[in-house]
Amino acid sequence: MRNRRIVIGVTGGIAAYKAPLVVRRLVAAGADVDVVLTRGGARFVGAATFEGLTGRAVRSEVWDAVEEETHVALARHADVVAVYPATAHTMARAASGLADDLLTTTLLATTAPVVMAPAMHTEMWEHPATRANAAVLRERGVALVGPAEGALMGGDVGAGRAVEPDAFVAAVVAALGQDRETPVGGVPDLEVVADPDEQPWAGRRVVVTAGGTREPIDPVRWLGNRSTGRMGIAIAAAAARRGADVDLVIAGSELPTPPGVTRVEVTTASEMHEQVLARADADVVVKAAAVADFRPADVAQRKLKKADGTPTLSLVPNPDILADLGRRRAEGGGGPTVLVGFAAETDDPVANGRDKLARKQADLLVVNDLTATGAGFGHDTNEVVILAADGSRTDVALTSKDEVADRLLDVVDVRLAAADPAPSREPAPGR
Ligand code: CTP
Repeated sequence: MRNRRIVIGVTGGIAAYKAPLVVRRLVAAGADVDVVLTRGGARFVGAATFEGLTGRAVRSEVWDAVEEETHVALARHADVVAVYPATAHTMARAASGLADDLLTTTLLATTAPVVMAPAMHTEMWEHPATRANAAVLRERGVALVGPAEGALMGGDVGAGRAVEPDAFVAAVVAALGQDRETPVGGVPDLEVVADPDEQPWAGRRVVVTAGGTREPIDPVRWLGNRSTGRMGIAIAAAAARRGADVDLVIAGSELPTPPGVTRVEVTTASEMHEQVLARADADVVVKAAAVADFRPADVAQRKLKKADGTPTLSLVPNPDILADLGRRRAEGGGGPTVLVGFAAETDDPVANGRDKLARKQADLLVVNDLTATGAGFGHDTNEVVILAADGSRTDVALTSKDEVADRLLDVVDVRLAAADPAPSREPAPGR
C-alpha cells in the first residue's frame, strides 16, 4: 500500500463512528489517506480524530483551499475513492452527478475506482429510488460493499448496516488492483468477509474488572450489589477475540470465564484494588465492576446472633480503583494507554458521567441509564453512552451486551491506534 493514495469520504450515517478504524488500517498498511468529511459525517465524528490518524488536514468544503483546486487535485491523485459509510442521500447525489460538496465533486472528477459501503435503514435501502441509484452506480463501475444485516440505529435490526471496517478495507485493497475500465454490465457487488482469524489486538494487554465486590460483615454475610458480571465478561471475551492477552479481575460472579481469558478471582474492593494496580501498565484497563464504596470497619470473627441485639454497622471508605489509576497516570507514575470507567446512574446520566470522567481522570466512561428498559444489572442487553475525555460521545442504542462490548472496543481501538499504531506482535512477557 506504500505510496498509494486513498480518498475516504465519510458521510452522515451512524457507522461514521467506525470510519476511523478504516482509516487507521489503511494508514497502518502504508497508504496516504485523505479524509473528506461531509457536514453530516462531522455530526458523528470529529475532524481531529482523522487528522490524528492520517497526519493530514481533513477536507470538508470546496471552498476551503480554492487556489489548490482541492476537488480536482484529490480526484486526480487518488488511486481509489472510497465512501464509508455511504448514506442513501450520498448515493443519490453520486448517481445523479450532483456536485454540491467536496465529496460529490471529487466523485464526479475522479477516474479512479470508487468503492462505497451503503448504510441506511432497511426501508431506505429497499426503496425503489435507492435501488435505482445503486443500479446506476454499479453500472458506472462503483463497487458497493454490503450493506450487511444487523443492528441499525435506534434499535432496529435488518439489512442496511455498513459492513465492518475490515471487510471494507479488503474491498479497497481489491479495488487498488482493479483495472480502471468498467466491465460491460457494470461491476458486481463485492461480498468481502473479514478474515475471522485476524487478531488486530495481538500483543495488546487488557485488564477488565467485572462483577460486584463483597465486603464481609461476619463469616456468613456481606455487603454487596446487584452486578452479575455479564457486561465485563462480554468485554473480556471481545478483547480476547481480537487477540489480546486478557486478565479478568472478577468479584461475586458465578458466570463462566470466556475462552482465552485469564480469570483472577477476588472478593473485596481492596483485593480488586491490589490485583488491578499490579496490572496497571496494560494497554487497556476497563473498570466494569461495581465496586463497593464502603466496607464494614470491623469484620466480626463469629456469626452475629440475633440474641446479641440489633447490630450497628460502622463503615469506612474503600479505595477508588479507577480514580487511583487515573491519578497515578496523571502524576507520571505509569498506567494504561486507555483507561475506561463505567457509571450506572439514575439521574441525569450524561452530566453525572462527564463529571465522573473528569474526576477520575479516565479516557472513556461508559454510562448506563439504570432507568432505561432492558439496560443495566441482570439484563442480556444494554443501552449506553460512551463519553470521551476529548468531549465526544458515542451513543449505543439498546442491543446485546456482546455488541456493546464490541462497540466500546472499537472506540478504544481508535485511541490505541492514535497512541501506538503498531503494537508488538510478540506475546506479553510471562505468557
Ligand atoms: N470504581 C472504582 N473503585 C471504587 C468505586 C468505583 O474503581 N471504589 C469505579 C467503577 O468500577 C466504575 C467507576 O468507578 O468504573 C464509577 O463507579 P461509580 O460507583 O459510579 O462511582 P462512584 O465514585 O462511586 O460515584 P458516585 O458519586 O455515584 O457514588
